[in-house]
Amino acid sequence: MNYITATPATARRSSGQVKLHGAEAFEGMRKAGRIAAACLDMLTEKVAPGVTTAELDNLVYDFVLAAGAIPATIFYRGYRHSSCTSINDVICHGIPADRQLKDGDIVNIDVTAIVDGWHGDTSRMYLAGEPPLRARKLVDVTYEAMMRGIAAIKPGATTGDLGHAIQAFAEGHSYSVVRDFCGHGVGRVFHDAPNVLHYGQAGKGLAFKEGMIFTVEPMINAGKPQVKLKPDGWTAVSKDRSLSAQFEHTVGVTATGVEIFTQSPTGLHKPPYA
Ligand code: MF3
Ligand code: CO
Ligand code: CO
Repeated sequence: MNYITATPATARRSSGQVKLHGAEAFEGMRKAGRIAAACLDMLTEKVAPGVTTAELDNLVYDFVLAAGAIPATIFYRGYRHSSCTSINDVICHGIPADRQLKDGDIVNIDVTAIVDGWHGDTSRMYLAGEPPLRARKLVDVTYEAMMRGIAAIKPGATTGDLGHAIQAFAEGHSYSVVRDFCGHGVGRVFHDAPNVLHYGQAGKGLAFKEGMIFTVEPMINAGKPQVKLKPDGWTAVSKDRSLSAQFEHTVGVTATGVEIFTQSPTGLHKPPYA
């Protein structure tokens, strides 16, 4: 598939309605999710001190195209790159650049692949060299928070159950949950209804139904949750400059629970990847 054939299959705008997808969508999302996840697998051997985030972004571009997919972020609302690369106190939407990673950096790489119009959206944390224990702990807790949120998903449970599971675990470790960004419906539309908050109260919010497809992508700060936007209009950093971590999966609600579309095909779920 090329850009021309991808375009008509990819809806541009959210209708605001929460869609209930069928078997065909789930099959499409499996393919898109697998390519995005395989791309993150590929990066595990590439992240190291001295590598620039622009170099990593080029690897993402090449990988996604070679897999017959399109990076969803290119030309998305004026964004021009194939990934977001968010280092240390950058919460999300870090722009790939010629800055070299240094020993001890933690970096989130977020990739979205479009296959036959379906969007697979996923991110993981990577360690450059040997970050201090406090950084590695934040990364571990953030991964576990995401997985606890996902484990709360089944028909009849609510977005509040998901948010509560994440918030309780993160705050139990004296971290904070970023409020200004959330998970989102996804499918043929990149950012669709509903908003999926990563904090909340059990039993509150929207009830999950079979066929819903959305992301779970908590951003957890070691300090306070407040966000500051850099003058580039994209890069979101923690206002107190504390370390921030994030993982993201794209999931679908099944008859009895949840399916993760962006699981690593080779078991590279979280660092250390070696
Ligand atoms: N992949 C991000 C998400 O998880 C969105 C990035 S949009 C961009 O929703 F324009 F910043 F790339
Ligand atoms: Co997302
Ligand atoms: Co993403």
